[in-house]
Amino acid sequence: MQTVPVSLRSNPYEIVISSGIFDQFGDYFLKWTKGAKNAIVVTDTNVEPLYGLKIAEILADAGVNNDLCVVEAGEESKCVDVAAMLWERLIECGADRKTVVVAVGGGVVGDLAGFVAATLNRGLPFIQVPTTLLAQVDSSVGGKTGINIPQGKNLVGAFWQPKGVLMDTQTLRTLDDRQYRAGLAEVVKYGVILDANFFNFLEQNVQKIRARDEAVLAKIIARCCELKAQIVLEDERETSGRRAVLNYGHTFGHVVEKLGGYGVYLHGEAVGIGMSFAARLACWLEPENLKLERLAQRQDALLTALKIPTKAPEFNRDAILNTMMHDKKTVNGTIRFVLPNRLGECEMKKISNIESFI
Ligand SMILES: NC(=O)c1ccc[n+]([C@@H]2O[C@H](COP(=O)([O-])OP(=O)(O)OC[C@H]3O[C@@H](n4cnc5c(N)ncnc54)[C@H](O)[C@@H]3O)[C@@H](O)[C@H]2O)c1
Ligand SMILES: [Zn+2]
Repeated sequence: MQTVPVSLRSNPYEIVISSGIFDQFGDYFLKWTKGAKNAIVVTDTNVEPLYGLKIAEILADAGVNNDLCVVEAGEESKCVDVAAMLWERLIECGADRKTVVVAVGGGVVGDLAGFVAATLNRGLPFIQVPTTLLAQVDSSVGGKTGINIPQGKNLVGAFWQPKGVLMDTQTLRTLDDRQYRAGLAEVVKYGVILDANFFNFLEQNVQKIRARDEAVLAKIIARCCELKAQIVLEDERETSGRRAVLNYGHTFGHVVEKLGGYGVYLHGEAVGIGMSFAARLACWLEPENLKLERLAQRQDALLTALKIPTKAPEFNRDAILNTMMHDKKTVNGTIRFVLPNRLGECEMKKISNIESFI
């Protein structure tokens, strides 16, 4: 079992990662909530039969009254209407300030249920049980919750930290290949931006990662959570700029998501392409830097070995520039990119001549 403490001063909590740990969820729930009696389990239509029902049963066995709320699987559920439906359901179920919201699912369920928990009655206790790799290494750590509105993704949201996070690596067995690989792109990202030794570990364990070896996965997930938690501790509310390093690969990744047509590329696939772009941009800015050249090669090789795409389709150059210039990180034609200095270290850099690179 791996435990990662998240030592926030206002709300310290732990992330517990292990194979088969669901069986102990009742004990963790009672420990983290100091014996709460009522819960609402939020899950989606895919996860309900796999794990949602099981979590609800485990809670019932632990003496916790609970209702199961199931939303349609997919990003569309991260919207005002579904959030409102959940607020209403919670009120119908008699939820009060002590009712615990338990999110069982991927990032969609986590963001949505977390937002509902953050807002109803000005905040209900919240527990995350993430079941996708992306949710385990990224979205369930850091306290960002939110929903989409027509004007943009994640535009409405709140910082709301959970009381605890429980991850069972067995859930990854049922995840489809594309979703699994999309999560792996964020895993590689942590190595490149924060931890060269972790990157080496990934390179050395490609076969086991592809085989979804649970011991290796538990180590990987724990390290990603540690790395993200450290950044979150340094910049909980995204005010100092430190948290922005997590956006490595995301500026061009967003271009790929947008120009590829939303939904065509999974977020993680677009991030793989974005990381490859960012590393090449770093090399272009410092043509003599052989370390960067080597980094770009190793990163592409690892992504490719994990079957994560690194090459964007032939987008129209003007469309690329236009999309980048509308990015919120662009000011007066100067775009900011998170770029590697060396393996395991990166920083935000201002680029004023991106059109010469593309
Ligand atoms: N809050 C944050 O900091 C943060 C960070 C990154 C991403 N996100 C958000 O996360 C969301 C994406 O999360 P995601 O990639 O987990 O998508 P998702 O929640 O849509 O899950 C992907 C698919 O896998 C299914 N699924 C989930 N667990 C499964 C399992 N164990 N076995 C089989 N199928 C399973 C889901 O039903 C869904 O169809 C986006 O909305 C994104 O904005 C949030
Ligand atoms: Zn991402």
